[in-house]
Amino acid sequence: MYVLAFAASPRRGGNTDTLLDHVLEGARAEGADVERIVLAQYRIAPCIECNGCWKEGLCVVQDDFQLLYPKLEVAERIILATPMFFGHVSAQAKQLIDRCQCFYARKYIVRRPMPPVPHPRKGYLVAAAGHPRIKFDCMGLTMRVWMDALDATYDGALTFNSLEDAGDAAANPDILEQARRFGKTIALP
Ligand SMILES: Cc1cc2nc3c(=O)[nH]c(=O)nc-3n(C[C@H](O)[C@H](O)[C@H](O)COP(=O)(O)O)c2cc1C
Repeated sequence: MYVLAFAASPRRGGNTDTLLDHVLEGARAEGADVERIVLAQYRIAPCIECNGCWKEGLCVVQDDFQLLYPKLEVAERIILATPMFFGHVSAQAKQLIDRCQCFYARKYIVRRPMPPVPHPRKGYLVAAAGHPRIKFDCMGLTMRVWMDALDATYDGALTFNSLEDAGDAAANPDILEQARRFGKTIALP
């Protein structure tokens, strides 16, 4: 099972990085083949809405997104780990998502099917917010729409409030255990 995970925080070693570490540990324990992409290390421009992808379902903007397209094509599980920034996903996450407009075009305009994969494509959100009560609904809606473009099902989220400082998740063994368990379920066929 190929699990493709995006670490979308600009802060290395922060809460969502730590959560993702433990989610992937759980997935590996179930035998998953895991790849972790740190989005801040990739040069991905925002979508320019040129509709260049309407021809063949391929993004015509030449930057590091081109490295991710083939991975997204064959991933069986996709995980987005993002901090909440002003109620939504980070800018790094949103740039990736918007560039996936080419997958929307591939599915709905060009009608070129995704390649078959051994297990159904599924997507997951892992997120942290500083506020004790703020909801993650906006992220959930975006995940659903994004996964549909990738011909995947949005299958669940692991979200935590009251995580503010970089080490808050790492200091909470209960949270880390929840993340490991979540990773194990993700890797189940
Ligand atoms: C630009 C920015 C915007 C933020 N906006 C929110 C917000 O709207 N609601 C919230 O609860 N926390 C907000 N936070 C706090 C982060 O979500 C929180 O610190 C989170 O744990 C960071 O995760 P990370 O360590 O993985 O980057 C914001 C932080 C930053 C830097």
